[in-house]
Amino acid sequence: MSEQPPTVLFEKRGDIAVVTLNRPDALNAFSVRMRDELWEVLGAVRDDPDVRGMLLQGAGERAFCAGADLTEFGTAPSQAVARTVRWERDVWGLLLGLPKPTVAALHGYCLGSGLEMAVLCDLRVAADDAVFGMPEAGLGLVPAAGGTQLLPRLLGPGRALDLLLSGRRFGAGEALEYGLVTQVVARSELSGAATALLQRVLRAPGRALAAAKRALAEGADVPLASALDLERRLAAGLSA
Ligand code: COA
Repeated sequence: MSEQPPTVLFEKRGDIAVVTLNRPDALNAFSVRMRDELWEVLGAVRDDPDVRGMLLQGAGERAFCAGADLTEFGTAPSQAVARTVRWERDVWGLLLGLPKPTVAALHGYCLGSGLEMAVLCDLRVAADDAVFGMPEAGLGLVPAAGGTQLLPRLLGPGRALDLLLSGRRFGAGEALEYGLVTQVVARSELSGAATALLQRVLRAPGRALAAAKRALAEGADVPLASALDLERRLAAGLSA
């Protein structure tokens, strides 16, 4: 029996790990197998001392990722099981908690958990053909890769609710206006633009980048005085 190709590709380009969701025939839909393989790859990104940053992209012409694999969602109970299984291996927590900068390069469909995965990265660049949306509510589901928590933090609760309740699709221009992405480029320039952005970020020392990420992630959920204290401690740690 021929071996199936990996659903996630990992390649080192200098000090950057290029991670590619690799199910182009299924628009890179996020399957349980992809979860397991992404878990392994993200562990390598975290632990490899030669890797200083990660670029996340989708294979093929049509999508970054068209959301959770709907073929793995059957009846109501199995749907619940499929989603619980995803959380048992906290791949989303692993991605969010990476101490190294992450940039998502988004093209084509970027729906549901595809959009959530992008939001779990630090920075996002979109191609002009990108189409975003959170269709879960219309499918009788609630987003389960952090979307209900991270989208309002990024876009504000009004915009996040609009997207989460309406499920409407929107394009790269709107994503730029919302601050969901920092840059929109021609499709042919996506990979180069996302790499250049990451390389620019990586001019800073890794310790400083990790501290900035930690300050934002941990500071967002504690009272201001504690968050300012965290910032002071991180700053002192860097200058020690
Ligand atoms: N899960 C599993 N397979 C998916 C998928 C998903 N989320 N999204 C797309 N695919 C598969 C299709 O089944 C199709 O496979 P096939 O060629 O074996 O039939 C292939 O990817 C291409 O998609 P197709 O639907 O034929 O392309 P399209 O251009 O007509 O439509 C979309 C593109 C993205 C609008 C449509 O595929 C879609 O709505 N997908 C589901 C999006 C979604 O609801 N995601 C969130 C889940 S919570």
